Amino acid sequence: MLKVNKIFMVLCVLMAFSTNTMMQCQSKEQAYFSPGKLWQDNTGTHINAHGGGTLYYNGRYYWFGEHKSDTTSSALVGVMCYSSSDLYNWKKEGVAFSVEENRNSDITKGCIMERPKVVYNKKTGKFVLWFHLELKGQGYVAARVGVAVSDQITGPYKFLRSYRPNPGIYPANMTDKQKKLTLNARDYDKWWTPKWYKAVSDGLFVKRDLNSGQMSRDMTIFVDDDGKAYHIYSSEENLTLQIAELTDDYLGHTGKYIRIFPGGHNEAPAVFKKDGVYWMITSGCTGWDPNEARMFSAPSIWGPWKQHPNPCVGNDAKLTFYSQSTFIQKVEGKKDAYIFMADIWRPEHPIDARYVWLPIQFGKDGIPVLQWMDSWNLDFFSLK
Ligand code: DGJ
Repeated sequence: MLKVNKIFMVLCVLMAFSTNTMMQCQSKEQAYFSPGKLWQDNTGTHINAHGGGTLYYNGRYYWFGEHKSDTTSSALVGVMCYSSSDLYNWKKEGVAFSVEENRNSDITKGCIMERPKVVYNKKTGKFVLWFHLELKGQGYVAARVGVAVSDQITGPYKFLRSYRPNPGIYPANMTDKQKKLTLNARDYDKWWTPKWYKAVSDGLFVKRDLNSGQMSRDMTIFVDDDGKAYHIYSSEENLTLQIAELTDDYLGHTGKYIRIFPGGHNEAPAVFKKDGVYWMITSGCTGWDPNEARMFSAPSIWGPWKQHPNPCVGNDAKLTFYSQSTFIQKVEGKKDAYIFMADIWRPEHPIDARYVWLPIQFGKDGIPVLQWMDSWNLDFFSLK
């Protein structure tokens, strides 16, 4: 009798285990976006692709983002890749770009690898991954950009190098007068004063970093209709955005770059183009805490850029619905359909950070508007 009971118990445990495994392996097909909620991949696990971006290639969307752990935001794994045909249901493709065990590597395990973006180069047939890199153990001091390349969209991506862009080169929109000024960061240790603003505007930090290259933290890559690609990043101590042209193979910088909104303190740039106008949504700089989004537009990537009011409306608009921008994806096959993508950070449990994807609406004046929705789907774009 005792033996039968034991066998029964073992069977029960096995059944419970297999049911649990099935629950983890099966996720329900989704037909909606549910901003801020857990978002399961095809294995039933919350998608781990933070600060990311997407790329449409050969009929599928690919989502690349930071793999985050439960206790740290530092990179212990690398950049994850997921793929989808409908933008709701995502298949885990795995680690596209891995940190390295070698302690001397720039991308050694424990470094900070943020905001990865992948672009496809039609001329070379290669996929190029750009990311913000901070060297292990140095906080956010290194302020570098890193680049990696792969023949396959899902990777593995091969690390090429990390650096600060455009050493020894002045921005194209700095005047000769500004270039000739002698500005010394030591003379401006008190921040946010009118004197300091003027110095920042005149290129205080551009000059300080001229030889080493410009600081490069939060970033995105934008590929224009003509195939030219641009690296857009928070530079000069996160005070000023810079826009830099990439080489034709997308693997380096050409040396042509501009600075916009000096002293504006913008992070998290996300860019899209509609009817010939370039739009950029950014955040302010408050670490992992949410703040009010900013929006800018320009008739050319080189400007002039002008600022618009916060695109968010409704409850929590002043906190970007508790999120921070990361990317804007055009929906293929639909007119004027763009998805604003953002992260709700959870610094105490980075892996639990959430995603906010919202449709970009356009006001009568053609100005982008973001409105919170608990749930929505792509039909939204047809209903307009
Ligand atoms: C805000 C940035 O947008 C994030 O990518 C990250 O760098 C955090 N700051 C770190 O505090």
